[in-house]
Amino acid sequence: MPKDIAQTSEMELPKHVAIIMDGNGRWANARGLPRTLGHKAGAEALKRTVRAAGEIGIQYLTLFGFSCENWSRPEFEVKELMRLLRLYLRAETAELAKNNICLKVIGEREQLDADIVRLIENAEEISKDNDGIVLMIAINYGGRQDIVNSVHKLLQSGELDAGMSKDNLSQAIESRLMTGGAPEPDLLIRTSGEQRISNFLLWQCAYSELYFTETFWPDFGREPLEKALAAYQNRERRFGGLAPKVHQV
Ligand code: FPP
Repeated sequence: MPKDIAQTSEMELPKHVAIIMDGNGRWANARGLPRTLGHKAGAEALKRTVRAAGEIGIQYLTLFGFSCENWSRPEFEVKELMRLLRLYLRAETAELAKNNICLKVIGEREQLDADIVRLIENAEEISKDNDGIVLMIAINYGGRQDIVNSVHKLLQSGELDAGMSKDNLSQAIESRLMTGGAPEPDLLIRTSGEQRISNFLLWQCAYSELYFTETFWPDFGREPLEKALAAYQNRERRFGGLAPKVHQV
């Protein structure tokens, strides 16, 4: 562990880190490999990063695995991503207990194959009492869809009332988001040099610190994560207020 991370107290670590894992295709292209091998290497980076985050003491890690918009990719690529997801769920379910990971998959499940939904439900059930890192993998997820889904649930519950205060409405929407009771991400990382949110956690990332790195996702792991955490620790979070050193006149 580099000095800068080891010397900081647990309080200064972000509780919740979210990552847009980007650059698998370009990583493969740069090596003259098919894109699918980039995704395979991406799945290894995912495992490395989860392990490192748990060891460092991150409490929540949310990874963007497959967006609602990713269905528009060529069929063989979608198939490969689903194959990797199956493999990951089959192989890692036993590891979840060993590493005390609580897994949750966020996103709409209706479009997923039934066997994948079963694997997800099984992994979630088996790991639900683990009290180490909470790992949320977003599959068929979109931030707008998350908000619309929440408002839809609220409408169906009959609890929506034009007379309710906006604060109560905001809380009602927030509590029905797919991330449930997780705190909002303190830090949002995107790899591969792209600087966009791409419909990830739109509500939840309202005040997240953003960190962009040129590193392609398959090269990500402990060291790049620690670099991102060190950058986060040098940020001054204001949540719309004033910096402590600024005096109002
Ligand atoms: C972006 O690379 C990455 C994804 C589409 C999602 C992340 C996928 C993995 C980590 C593979 C394993 C997945 C699971 C859920 C186990 P890209 O294809 O957009 O890269 P490019 O921008 O360089 O083309």
